[in-house]
Amino acid sequence: MRIAIVGSGYVGLVTGVCLADLGHEVILVDNDEAKLSALQRGDVPIHEKFLPELLARHRGARLQFSADLAASARDSEAVFIAVGTPPTEQGDADLSYVESVARDVSGSISSYKLVVEKSTVPVYTSGWIRKIMLRNGARSDSFDVASNPEFLREGTAVTDFLYPDRIVAGSDTDRSSEVLRQIYEPLTSGRYYAEAHAVPRPEGARTQLPQLLLTSAKSAELIKHASNAFLAMKISFANAVASVCESVGADVKHVCQGIGMDSRIGPRFLNPGIGYGGSCFPKDLLAFRSVARECGMDFRLLDEVIRINEDQRQRFLRKVRSALWTLRGKRLAVLGLAFKGGTDDIRESPAILLVQALVQEGSQIIAHDPAAMARAKEVLPAAVEYAANPYDAARGADALLILTEWEEYAQLDLARLAHELKYPIVIDGRNLYDGNVMTQHGFTYYSVGRPTAAPEEHAGSVVSEQRVLKGKERERKA
Ligand code: UGA
Repeated sequence: MRIAIVGSGYVGLVTGVCLADLGHEVILVDNDEAKLSALQRGDVPIHEKFLPELLARHRGARLQFSADLAASARDSEAVFIAVGTPPTEQGDADLSYVESVARDVSGSISSYKLVVEKSTVPVYTSGWIRKIMLRNGARSDSFDVASNPEFLREGTAVTDFLYPDRIVAGSDTDRSSEVLRQIYEPLTSGRYYAEAHAVPRPEGARTQLPQLLLTSAKSAELIKHASNAFLAMKISFANAVASVCESVGADVKHVCQGIGMDSRIGPRFLNPGIGYGGSCFPKDLLAFRSVARECGMDFRLLDEVIRINEDQRQRFLRKVRSALWTLRGKRLAVLGLAFKGGTDDIRESPAILLVQALVQEGSQIIAHDPAAMARAKEVLPAAVEYAANPYDAARGADALLILTEWEEYAQLDLARLAHELKYPIVIDGRNLYDGNVMTQHGFTYYSVGRPTAAPEEHAGSVVSEQRVLKGKERERKA
């Protein structure tokens, strides 16, 4: 099928290369000519596994680029809208880019078109797109509007697209459902997975064929917002439980493992840390709260999810203070600046917010991140230094802070790290290590929702937890 994708940002680009890999003829449309030429040359603007390979495989062949929206729409059967929906000051999504695409597409309908919302948008957006297109002269039987939300995580977006848990197709006519069904047929029939060039199935991905959930456009719009809100709620829940664990000396890893073993709950997105970040959860929660308010529902649960998330950063800062006493003049090695592992994205990164707070308190920061340092330099104060690897960052530092869950940070050479640090203190905001292993290497190890592990306390779990609690009580009294 010939498909135009409007917007070559994160979602548009991944959707474009993946649809081309499924066998469709894709035109990626953007009004940023510099971006288009870079893509045409094969430059990949984001850090995303399999994206360079797929771009190289299809650019110039099944994947074309164009700045001409009208012509691209005219030549396509389906037009995916994947433009930005940034938050306004009030927290709701700014839909002016979506509206402008709808206006432009309405002028270029010579045969039936399916307009598909891919951007995350509030409920009723499909209705508005339809109204705008009718107002601009499109005939009511010449097009349909559908909602096909994406559930792509940064870092694994390509495999999330190709090996999805579900594909949500929200459309209000049989004709438009049929177009969506055809677009995703290579996945739902399993045909794609049998091809020699198929991107390999990632570990842990379900082996059943993905299902297409056919529903109304409004329901699909809500599925996207509600899914992100639910995932953020799971994280905030784990963070709140972690705080209780810290107070009583329990281990949140075990507690969340125990909760997640219940198949009704599931183990994923129950990792406590320094709070969620990124370009989706913070923005989508505000937008969903705003949608709910407009519908007359005060969704206070969402306020609480957001509040716990913000508190979690403050709690971590307090942990750093309680481990190091004063922060002015302390040299702190920071591992991780991206909002999560596997990406160079620092939007709403809790790690960036923490580094900014630590610099304000007078700490000297030497940071490392495998992918996000260039982007971080643009927003962090000039005083922050950057290291080529974690060990250079640790050299001579008063303590090491782990702020992003990069896989490589879970496999550090601990003996080397202890040797490089001025004091063997690790404050881990992502719970990447086992306390006993850390103490065996001589570290005092602080993590989230687990007892602090110090070498002299290294005597076995329950006893050591009690000792740590006693130690904490002594500290409080002092
Ligand atoms: C999220 C959703 O997971 C995707 O399904 C969705 O399509 C996407 O938003 C979107 O709306 O476009 P993403 O923002 O890439 O994807 O990242 P996640 O992997 O969901 O992580 C979000 C944040 O939560 C990160 O800061 C991560 O460190 C944090 N997190 C995640 C935790 O603190 N604990 C966890 O257990 C999981």
